[in-house]
Amino acid sequence: MVRVSMSVNGDAVIAEVEPRTQLADFLRNDLQLTGTHLGCEQGVCGACTVMVNGKMQRSCITFASDCESAHVTTIEGFDDDPTMIELRDAFSEFHALQCGFCTPGMLTTARDIVLRLGDIPESWIREELSGNICRCTGYVGIVEAVKKVAAGKVPNAVAASAAVAAKKFDGLRPAPVTPAPREKAKPSSGQASTPATAAGQIDGGISIEERIRVGATPEQVWNVLSDLRRVVPCVPGVEITTLEGENLTGKVKMALGPIKASFSGQATVGMDDAKREGWMTGKGRDSGLGSSAEGAARWRVVNGGNNDSVVAVTLTWKLSGALAQFNRAGLVQDIVRRLAATFAANLEATITGTAPPAQAGAVLGGFGLIWSILKARFSRR
Ligand code: FES
Ligand code: FES
Repeated sequence: MVRVSMSVNGDAVIAEVEPRTQLADFLRNDLQLTGTHLGCEQGVCGACTVMVNGKMQRSCITFASDCESAHVTTIEGFDDDPTMIELRDAFSEFHALQCGFCTPGMLTTARDIVLRLGDIPESWIREELSGNICRCTGYVGIVEAVKKVAAGKVPNAVAASAAVAAKKFDGLRPAPVTPAPREKAKPSSGQASTPATAAGQIDGGISIEERIRVGATPEQVWNVLSDLRRVVPCVPGVEITTLEGENLTGKVKMALGPIKASFSGQATVGMDDAKREGWMTGKGRDSGLGSSAEGAARWRVVNGGNNDSVVAVTLTWKLSGALAQFNRAGLVQDIVRRLAATFAANLEATITGTAPPAQAGAVLGGFGLIWSILKARFSRR
């Protein structure tokens, strides 16, 4: 058993839990907070969504023991919240629920959308709600309800900054789903190369969004990001073998603790210079471990203020074979965050003309990285 202490809906909670106990089970079974629903229990449907330290989180795939010192808010904790009161009224008005199973997660997500993003277009509301599944309503009433409450609201800078791990990127949002690719980035081989695909529509794939702050103007950053031969060496362990138009082949070497893999694969890339955004989809295979990987990425450069830029990146991937265990581990998020920091440093070095750290023999992950993550995790317990 593991001792864990956290605040739940403002109350201090100290408990002994099995290391494998999920937060949703802990909330429902130990604290009798049954407003948190369990649908798929694999992070897909959104019914179990709660707020942890100001961010939306799937409680069905979050270990309770990982919530040491966290502030958790469930649907019960929003009883007197003014935005939630508005949303509940609007859900009633627009018949945004039938059986109500999805409703706690849907309301929690809707509140986050309203506070974090304010008055946004319907298409964007739909995109933000796409992680919450409703079997009954057809979504129209839900979207109308969120639209009504969001109307005229400005983004809440506090909620926004909490959502990006205490960094403030006002008004930042994921790249739109349907920008037109520039002419030279159009598929030439009939392969799919659309932002919609790169937005993460990989069956069974999982996604991570990351915001990377870079000490250079958006124009300087885009000049490098739109040139694959310059940007790829900024990612440890990744190299291009061939690049023809928008089609490339390459290799990714990774080392996650004792597991080492070297993927070879192909990818298709698209760019939109006007919007300073790009997208990539690809597949690869590691013959040694017999693992295969499917991935998509999209990125967008926005002004971060003070001559800084923010690169908003969404990564979606699916691993199968020996590496499938990394499909849903919280460890992957830590790895991506640390890689993002390395990437930002390398990108800045490339932009300023300083030689980036040596890449020869570099691998994605690597023992030092894994060790630092494990050390950080154990020191939190
Ligand atoms: S129950 Fe957690 S996402 Fe479905
Ligand atoms: S109201 Fe029934 S699942 Fe959404």
